[in-house]
Amino acid sequence: MKVNDPPMRPEEVFSRRASHYATSKVHDDKVTLSWLVDAAAPGREDVALDIGTGAGHTALALAPRVTRVEAIDLTEEMLGEARKLAGKRGIDNVTFSIGNAMSLPYPDRSFDIVTCRRAAHHFTDLERALGEMARVLRVGGRMVIDDRSVPEDDEVDELINRMDVLHDPSHVRDRRTSEWSALVRGTGLELLSMRPYRRRVPLSHFTDMVDPPTESAMRDLVARASDHAKKAIALEVTDGCVLLDNFFILLSAVRSR
Ligand SMILES: C[S@@+](CC[C@H](N)C(=O)[O-])C[C@H]1O[C@@H](n2cnc3c(N)ncnc32)[C@H](O)[C@@H]1O
Repeated sequence: MKVNDPPMRPEEVFSRRASHYATSKVHDDKVTLSWLVDAAAPGREDVALDIGTGAGHTALALAPRVTRVEAIDLTEEMLGEARKLAGKRGIDNVTFSIGNAMSLPYPDRSFDIVTCRRAAHHFTDLERALGEMARVLRVGGRMVIDDRSVPEDDEVDELINRMDVLHDPSHVRDRRTSEWSALVRGTGLELLSMRPYRRRVPLSHFTDMVDPPTESAMRDLVARASDHAKKAIALEVTDGCVLLDNFFILLSAVRSR
């Protein structure tokens, strides 16, 4: 997979990696999940939609706080993992079904909350997906997005996006805070909060699921990065273990009319 190749279909990648996401500490990170749930301000009567639900971590974190959650994903294998996790946790108010973020199978103004966590960087038409999220929200409804992100720095932006394409060929783009802010403004929703944050992870977290040539391309990319980029990602190599910062953004917006 080369950086300029068109992205692969997410189903091709996620159908092979589904079981990994069910147990992934990065995706089942209770701290950042609680930030997202708080930002959604869930109420007992609320009906929520979780888009790109994957193994269901976000839908299952929201479920105890609302009446019902609809959770959709493109990949049947991911939905299978999500249903298993719901069963294990005894959660029965989430419906998991196939659905595409770019064409949501729901009428206008159907939900009080729409969430989308760590999936938007796979969307081939993010503007359209955000328009769909705004469309299905009721007046007063909240959209909460958590996604991989990049700093406002061309060199670091390019390094992280190249790494992510190598890690996952269905990757489209990690966006800057300024891009997110313009995109949300374009939906007509009112932006309530933006919280950029970092998480420190070993490089092996990204190389575990790729073939050996791709792994060496990723290690090479990091090793050859400029001092400026290495400093920006807080790169640290100890006893062969490579640690680096990952960038994320959590944002919330409301449909005020
Ligand atoms: C990293 S996983 C999601 C993680 C999950 N939201 C969580 O909180 O743990 C990304 C998911 O997005 C899904 N996806 C990618 N493009 C999609 C689209 N256009 N519509 C719906 N789901 C999509 C993939 O199938 C995959 O399951």
